[in-house]
Amino acid sequence: MANFDPSKRDSFGTKFGVIAAAAGSAVGLGNIWRFPYIAGENGGGAFILIYLLFIIAIGIPVMLSEFTIGRRAQRNAFGSFKKLAPNTYWYLIGLMGVVAAFVILSFYSTVAGWTLEYIYLSITNAFADKSPDQLTTMFESFKSGTFRPIMWQLIFMILTAWIVIAGVKKGIEKYAKILMPILLLLIIIMDIRAVTLAGASEGLEFLFKPDFSKLDTNSVLEALGQAFFSLSIGMGTLITYGSYINKKQNLTTTAINVSAADTIIAILAGIAIFPAVFAFGIEPNAGPDLIFRTLPNIFQQMPGGYFFSLIFFILLGVAALTSSISVLEVVVAYFVEELGILRKRATIIAAVSITALGVLSTMSWGTFGEVRIFNFNIFELLDFTASSVLLPIGGVFIVVFLGWYLGKNYIKDEISSSGLYKTKLINLFILIIKFLAPIAIALVFLHGIGLLKF
Ligand code: PHE
Repeated sequence: MANFDPSKRDSFGTKFGVIAAAAGSAVGLGNIWRFPYIAGENGGGAFILIYLLFIIAIGIPVMLSEFTIGRRAQRNAFGSFKKLAPNTYWYLIGLMGVVAAFVILSFYSTVAGWTLEYIYLSITNAFADKSPDQLTTMFESFKSGTFRPIMWQLIFMILTAWIVIAGVKKGIEKYAKILMPILLLLIIIMDIRAVTLAGASEGLEFLFKPDFSKLDTNSVLEALGQAFFSLSIGMGTLITYGSYINKKQNLTTTAINVSAADTIIAILAGIAIFPAVFAFGIEPNAGPDLIFRTLPNIFQQMPGGYFFSLIFFILLGVAALTSSISVLEVVVAYFVEELGILRKRATIIAAVSITALGVLSTMSWGTFGEVRIFNFNIFELLDFTASSVLLPIGGVFIVVFLGWYLGKNYIKDEISSSGLYKTKLINLFILIIKFLAPIAIALVFLHGIGLLKF
């Protein structure tokens, strides 16, 4: 640990900066790319209802738990457990988080790379005068190629590493503060266009009218996995970010604001996408391809579409970037604080090794398409392992650690900022993290992977 001096730890500078950075982590491809297609595959409205329930009953409490652990320990995900529970095996949860970060960023950077290609296609006006079928073919042939998707993935990973190297305040926070407000504005503009399309109502109905017959046994686990993935919880991202939060900031309102922002943006993304899906006759269950096939259709039909498509894909890329930096930061903070590697070198080592796994994920849509494990390709396997397995398991142990191992006095002191804030709902929170959340997550998980049948 020769190179790490705890008294010189970096931190966030302002209240808004914390919210922007944490919301920047939460709002990403999970909201704009993953949420719409997962909701589409699981029948829409009913799935969304279950998703919302999970956000409120499980997501917010897990997020608050992560902030609490991180701010108290003032360490990375792994080091936080080591510091708060010395001479125990709790650090394994932090280690699992570091592994999850590897897994997530490797497939995340594939899709982020697709986004960069779509920025390029927007610039060159490549969607103009194409039929929905032609736009689909265009995406399929790009994604199954080798050179271009890997090139974009590398460029995206370089951008991610470049911001992380700059540090917490001068990198992560600085960019989040500029980029997040712009993102919100643009998604609202997209929504206005989408709901005024002819045939929009069918899409809105799909999104908001619950039809429980469309849910299958797996849907509930998918909803839970999506809630974890979208909120960036279950792997220590928000333990790491929590460790950079000022002692005077109110953690409860921060967790609620960030979760609300994340959920609202996911719904707004659904509103931007489903009317177009139905208006252009694309199946809502198109899977991971969904937005890359539908949005170009809207853009080429709307006045100023050239301009809007450019801005939209840039912002999708930006949303991906503010999330990917938070994933990389988990690994980097661990390397710096636990292994004593200097920040710049730590970032490069982490980014290079993640990219190596990421290239396999990218190629699983083409060259390695034949490689199938449990009927998943490599990309889908990485996504499933992270979202539906590692994050929920991490979530259980995080709340159990806070609720059972650290306990009430500790929680009260940290959440109230040592008495600065009222903690009216603290008993409810403790009830949730000790009982409701771990039991609910365990049941959904065991049922979803087929170990338990109701
Ligand atoms: N929440 C991010 C998104 O929705 C993804 C993410 C997952 C980021 C886990 C950090 C940790 O895109």
